[in-house]
Amino acid sequence: MTRIFSGIKPTGHMTLGNYLGALRRWVETDQHRADALFSVVDLHALTVEHDPARVRRLSRQAATLMLAAGLDPERCTLFVQSHVDEHARLSYLLECTAADGELRRMIQYKEKSTRAQAAGEGVRLSLLTYPVLMAADILAYGTDEVPVGDDQTQHVELTRDLAVRFNQRYGHTFTVPKATRPPVAARVMDLQDPDSKMGKSHESGAGIVYLLDEADLVRKKIMRAVTDSGREVEYDPEGRPGLANLLEILAACTEGNPVELAGVYESYGALKRDTADAVVELLKPVRARHAALAADAGYVDEVLRKGADRARGMARPRVDAAYAAIGLLPR
Ligand code: TYM
Repeated sequence: MTRIFSGIKPTGHMTLGNYLGALRRWVETDQHRADALFSVVDLHALTVEHDPARVRRLSRQAATLMLAAGLDPERCTLFVQSHVDEHARLSYLLECTAADGELRRMIQYKEKSTRAQAAGEGVRLSLLTYPVLMAADILAYGTDEVPVGDDQTQHVELTRDLAVRFNQRYGHTFTVPKATRPPVAARVMDLQDPDSKMGKSHESGAGIVYLLDEADLVRKKIMRAVTDSGREVEYDPEGRPGLANLLEILAACTEGNPVELAGVYESYGALKRDTADAVVELLKPVRARHAALAADAGYVDEVLRKGADRARGMARPRVDAAYAAIGLLPR
């Protein structure tokens, strides 16, 4: 059976980008067609300035939202990364497989380290090694497919390179995984700055739709989305990124096609209104289920405990095999 692994890091409140690019697919298809694991990858949240209490809160909230969105603990394994030691154990072996240069070339490292330096913050070493931990997350489970948004493609490529290199040097140990992306909305852009990704860690929330935003606020953010001064509605991601973003969001919500949808609209206002309605409808049940589940922290904790037990059992034999293959004495 196909093995799927993916994760979300608790660095901020979950966004429409996370939902359309990743979570929704996990719920609607991945958990039904494969042996799937989904993780709140909390160790990754420590790679930037963080407040411990906030990371704890956001980790529980992420798990609750994943359940609220429809992940079913009977169908998939939902767990918190730090509860399974195998991730960090394997990460070290992969640090001994990766080269400094290939990590410095990672786009997210370049962007985030530049931002941290501009803010006068130090750049944590873990920000550089982060993609290696991500590779460990994936390779520990013999993963075939990694359903992610576009921004993670380079990290999954690195994971493939590390798997191939390790296998060549030390004998076949890891499955070489591939990234899968959604047909539309693989990179949802910030509504106020359509040249940047809608990211949960951005400071200003005006261009970001959070899954737990009230319906009125969602509507306001979408109605105020930056477009351009043109009149005709056409799908041109390069030339008219703001408009293309709205068309992609609407297409993702309605299972439509952005090019065809462009032909349906004569004004930006009507497109924005329909997009706002579609997003509000899409998120309504998630918000409602989140409210119910958040009131039952015991249930969420129990799901996470069982998930970690199951994940540990799946990861340990492969990580042990990697330790043996690389030349470490068995315990
Ligand atoms: P993270 O937490 O930034 O995002 C979680 C998932 O959401 C997708 N995503 C988006 N998709 C479309 N448009 C957007 N604006 C958008 N923003 C985020 C991401 O592509 C991702 O699929 N490094 C990962 C977490 C991770 C991971 C892993 C993922 C750690 N280990 C192993 C897969 C497998 C990250 O920072 O995702």
